[in-house]
This record gives sequence, structure tokens and C-alpha cells, in this order.
Amino acid sequence: MSAERIEWVISSCRLLAQIGDEFDDSQPFAGLTIGTGIHLEPKTAALLVTLQRGGARVVATGNLNSTQPATVEYLRARGIGVIGEPTSDPVVHEADLEGVLAARPQLLLDNGGDLFWHYLAAPYEVLLGGTEETTSGRDRLTTRRGDLGVPVLVINDSPIKQFAENTHAVGQSVFESYMRLTNRSTQGKRVVVFGYGSCGRGVAANFRNAYAQVTVLEADPVKRLEACLDGFDVSDRDDALAAADVIVTVTGAPGILLAADLPLLRTGAILMNAGHFPHEIEADAILAAGRVDAAGPGLETVTLPDGRRIHVAGRGHMVNLSGPSPLGNSIESMDLGFALQSRCLEAIARGQVGGESVVVPVPKAIDDAVASAYLRQVVGVAAG
Ligand SMILES: NC(=O)c1ccc[n+]([C@@H]2O[C@H](COP(=O)([O-])OP(=O)(O)OC[C@H]3O[C@@H](n4cnc5c(N)ncnc54)[C@H](O)[C@@H]3O)[C@@H](O)[C@H]2O)c1
Repeated sequence: MSAERIEWVISSCRLLAQIGDEFDDSQPFAGLTIGTGIHLEPKTAALLVTLQRGGARVVATGNLNSTQPATVEYLRARGIGVIGEPTSDPVVHEADLEGVLAARPQLLLDNGGDLFWHYLAAPYEVLLGGTEETTSGRDRLTTRRGDLGVPVLVINDSPIKQFAENTHAVGQSVFESYMRLTNRSTQGKRVVVFGYGSCGRGVAANFRNAYAQVTVLEADPVKRLEACLDGFDVSDRDDALAAADVIVTVTGAPGILLAADLPLLRTGAILMNAGHFPHEIEADAILAAGRVDAAGPGLETVTLPDGRRIHVAGRGHMVNLSGPSPLGNSIESMDLGFALQSRCLEAIARGQVGGESVVVPVPKAIDDAVASAYLRQVVGVAAG
């Protein structure tokens, strides 16, 4: 990706651009270091540049398997310290996270709870608090609430993040990734979606809108009922897997689709994970069950001893950040989420969020301000 394209993405983040203009003057992060552990791709570059414009020294590393080299180059050229290189090796990634914490950031911007987890192993005094982007990170950090003792605002739990990114944008980008990685049709195909949370809801809807027959497999009976009343098939797991052309996991939970499920699958099935961690599909064990051939960037085919061919996208890593030219979620959805990030970090830096706010949702006043700004600046209507 060219620097021009990265600039174009950054300039398309209209909320962040406006916040950056304001931060140029207000300098909420003057004298502070912000440590980040989030996917390094052009939209996050827009966020990190905005924080830098607010006076922060930014020290960043990526997440497993999603760091884009051109973005790293772009950020380094602008004085943002990027630790490490793209990696899918968990051991290397852990060392990179330690590298961020070695800068003793006063604020952490986390994605999956990794940075806070490392901080908890060796706490230091100057931490003021920070943000956590995801469901998976929130669940991890909630178990250590008593040990954290600083405000941690969970961007995922903002209603704006839930509907704008998780439902609309993840649904759209997982669908786009299926098309990009496989070039296969969806009409009449049987698609199984594991999980009917805020992301699964969008994934299921996008495939249905593309004329697929979608089955939802959901552990929570209330959400399973919701999927049923939304018109999705919610029948038996084994029957659904046996008929599936495409299987998408998006639960946040480990061990959703196992090598032990292989005898059920029909030849040609495509397996994709959209959950944060690559532990939802047992990709390595599935690929070890037969002969593996590359099926193009981001797609591998395992031919089982009985001749069935099963295709695995992105080795089970988040499919919408895998493969050739990964786009991730739409610019507008990330602009909204990152405006929430910027405003939450600003509130913590200014001491406007108390130490009792440990692993809590974005304050309502910030949600309201960001929603109004989007309606005004992007949609072009008054906020009401
Ligand atoms: N790919 C992306 O761009 C992207 C963006 C946002 C979030 N995420 C990730 O997607 C995952 C899901 O996020 P969410 O916001 O939808 O979470 P959520 O908690 O709203 O929904 C998850 C759903 O999965 C269900 N579930 C759990 N275990 C299950 C099982 N064994 N079988 C069937 N269903 C099961 C839960 O009951 C729940 O309804 C998380 O890992 C999150 O971090 C990915």
C-alpha cells in the first residue's frame, strides 16, 4: 500500500481529523506517553496520528498476524515509535508488548487485553488508565478488575461500537473477505455462523442478504431465539455442519470448530474465523489431518485421506484482516470507534474519569458527543 493511499484513508476519517485540529491547540496529552497494542493498518494510523497531535509520545505495537508493513513505515516516518515487525509468532508478539510497556506509558490503548495483562504481571506507578477495544479483552480484564485499580473504558461496550462496527462493519467486511479470498458465490450456499452476538448478527445478515441459506449456532438460548425470530435456521449443530459450504466462527470463545468435527464436513467447505483470537477454529490440527496445498494468498486446502477437500482461511486468524489486500472494517465505522477512543483517553488524561471506573463502558456523555459530531459532520444533519 502506498503512502498516498494511507494519507487518503487518514483524510477520510473526518471525525478524527476534526479532533486532531482541536488537539493541536488543546494538547490533552502533553508530556504523556500512550502505549498501544492494536492492529497497525491505515485506520489505526489515523488514530495514532490524532493522539500524537494531542501532544502524546506514542509507542505502538500491532496484534498477531495483522500488522501492515506500509503502515509501520508510515508511522515511523512520522515519529511514532513502532516496536517489532509483522508476526504471527505469539512469543515474538509477547516480547513486542513488553517493549511497549518498557516505555512506562501513562495511558494504554489495548485491543484484546494483552497490554493490561502484561502490566498486571509487573505493575508500575505512573499508569493513569486506558481503553480496551474488544469484547475478548473486556472479558479477560473483568477477571482482574480488583487488581487494576485505574480507569479502563471499554470501547466495545459503547452502543455506537456495537451497531456501527460490530454489526454493520464486521458483517460487511467478513462477507467482503469471503468474496476476495475465494471468489465463490453465495447464492443458495449453506452458511453456518457460530455466535449471534453483535458481530455474528451482522455476519449472518450479510450472507442472507447475498441469498445464502444461513444457520446460526448460538450457545445462549435467548440469542438463539432471537436468531430464530430474525428468520435464521437454528437447528442441530451436526446437521448444519454436515451441510455447510461456509462456516464462520465469531464467538470470542476457544475451540468452536475442532479437528474432531472433520468427519462431519462435506468436501469444499470453507472455514473462516472472525473472532479476535485465532483459537476459535483448530486450524493447525485441521490442516495436519491431510495434505496441505496453498490455495492462493490467505487460503489453504487440506485434502483428507478420504479425498474430501476442506479450505481454511487465514490459518484461523481474523479473516477480515487476512489474505491479499486486507481492508478490515469500513473507514466510517472505525472513525466512529476511534473518535470514542480519542475522547476516552482525553477524559482519563484530564482526570475526568475516576479510579472506580475499572473496565466500564464508554461514558454516556462521550457517546452522545461522538454521535452528534458524526450526524453533523458526516451525515450533514443536526443532531436534534
Ligand atoms: N473481526 C473483527 O473485525 C472484529 C470486530 C469486533 C469484534 N470482534 C471479535 O468477535 C468476537 C465476537 O464479538 P461480539 O461482540 O459479537 O461478542 P458477543 O459477546 O456479543 O457475542 C458472542 C456470541 O457468541 C456466543 N457463543 C459463545 N460460545 C459459543 C459456542 N460455543 N457456540 C455458539 N455460540 C457461542 C455467545 O453466547 C454470544 O452470543 C470477539 O472475539 C470480538 O473481539 C472481531
